[in-house]
Amino acid sequence: MSANSPAAVVVLAAGGGTRMKSNRLPKVLHEVCGRSLVGHAVAAAEELTPGQLVVVIGHMREKVAEHLAAHHPGARAVVQAEQNGTGHAVRTALETLAADGVELDGTVIVTTGDAPLLTGGTLRALAGAHAEQGNGVTVLTAVVPEPFGYGRILRDEADGAVAAIVEEKDASDAQRAIDEINSGVFAFDAKLLVGALAEVTTDNAQGEEYLTDTLEILRRAGHRVGAVVAADYRDILGINDRVQLAHARRLLNDRLLERAMRAGVTVVDPATTWFDVQVSYEPDAVVLPNTQLQGATHLGEGSEVGPNSTLKDTRIGAGARVSNTTADGAEVGELATAGPYAYLRPGARLARKAKVGTYVEVKNSELGEGAKVPHLSYIGDATIGEGTNVGAASVTVNYDGVNKHRTVIGAHCRTGSDNMFIAPVTIGDGAYTAAGSVITNDVPAGGLGVSRAQQRNIAGWVERKRPGTTSAQAAAAAAEAAAEVPAEG
Ligand code: UD1
Ligand code: CA
Repeated sequence: MSANSPAAVVVLAAGGGTRMKSNRLPKVLHEVCGRSLVGHAVAAAEELTPGQLVVVIGHMREKVAEHLAAHHPGARAVVQAEQNGTGHAVRTALETLAADGVELDGTVIVTTGDAPLLTGGTLRALAGAHAEQGNGVTVLTAVVPEPFGYGRILRDEADGAVAAIVEEKDASDAQRAIDEINSGVFAFDAKLLVGALAEVTTDNAQGEEYLTDTLEILRRAGHRVGAVVAADYRDILGINDRVQLAHARRLLNDRLLERAMRAGVTVVDPATTWFDVQVSYEPDAVVLPNTQLQGATHLGEGSEVGPNSTLKDTRIGAGARVSNTTADGAEVGELATAGPYAYLRPGARLARKAKVGTYVEVKNSELGEGAKVPHLSYIGDATIGEGTNVGAASVTVNYDGVNKHRTVIGAHCRTGSDNMFIAPVTIGDGAYTAAGSVITNDVPAGGLGVSRAQQRNIAGWVERKRPGTTSAQAAAAAAEAAAEVPAEG
């Protein structure tokens, strides 16, 4: 908490969110760009380093509390058992803090848990104007094309100052025509807020304690009521249903992509490219169409990812190339390649210039520098040394039904196609294995591991056992052709 930090930020997140039509997820836990709605509110609040960061929860409160504890431990959850309105929610938060002996002095920011486009920067601008103007309360407003449903800002005809906020359900037709709305975000003087909340009644269409009534109460008592109009109304958009959720995701994604492009990342098709908020990158990374970068995915300088790739919590090294790949918790080293059609699972680590090719799945395994698994293979719980090539269609047989075991393949090995490595098993440096082998025992360095049955051919089997088939006809034609070949010399 610095000198300019608010004493507290209170995030309102107790409401039902009935229009999401969800039986499983409270509204504020729906996600936009890799973060829950309430998570966005908390992240914006954290940028102000407030003395107290409180989230008021109610509807499906166990789930919200669990989520906050797991992902946003800096936020403190306060339960509002019954949702008696936004004023009641803030009062509950302040009373809980007071009961704990927390005395608030300075600014209290009240914000909402369902406006994911609201940034720390906007909150800072609000807090700044509030302090500069010496207001008792400052409301963040916006001029919107569709004011329906929002509280309208009533301004004094003489001086243009905010006089009151009237809710849609309490508004006259003339008031409903006003297109300046309440975002639901405020900066308050802490002491004045406590006093004003004590005067709020439930005398309104919804029978709730409206936080918005505090503005009129404070103005009547002679305090300055200020307003900051959002530069872009889309910054304050609240989410009530899944249509708005998708719209907000699109808007935030556009912002994230724009920031990446301005930082030197080529995004070939912004319409089909999706970034989460934690994605990071270096210049000259290229993102090809239909690519989702999720979690803390990082793109190194000059790397190229996509098309058709979904990368979660994955690090892509400088100059690496990843195409048509699904990756989760993987590390792709400098100049390494993956795909097309690779599946990199948690703990897949490709060193510099390593290659995971087509239809290859890698889990909890390291590939050394320049090691290659080019085709149709499963590599799980394995260590593969530098310069080694694993033949097509190989499997590390890592699971005995109860436990997982490791396969260790040394440096500069050449393992044959269609090998089964029955783990635990170790192949020494520089060793070879024969195609089609089931490798059960260790192979010493420089040795050749072979394990396959002697082949025998039974002549004429098809003509005897499958007479009349096209195979038998082909065999007969081949025999005839062989007989017709004139003897040479
Ligand atoms: C509220 C404002 C309205 C504003 C709009 C912006 C009031 C009375 N009205 O209306 O002026 O334009 O937000 O979106 O404040 N909440 C609680 N506990 C409650 C009630 C609500 O925590 O008892 C939370 C909700 O979870 C939500 C926020 O407060 O995050 C706003 O509540 P909501 O019911 O959506 O208020 P609106 O009717 O939209
Ligand atoms: Ca709302």
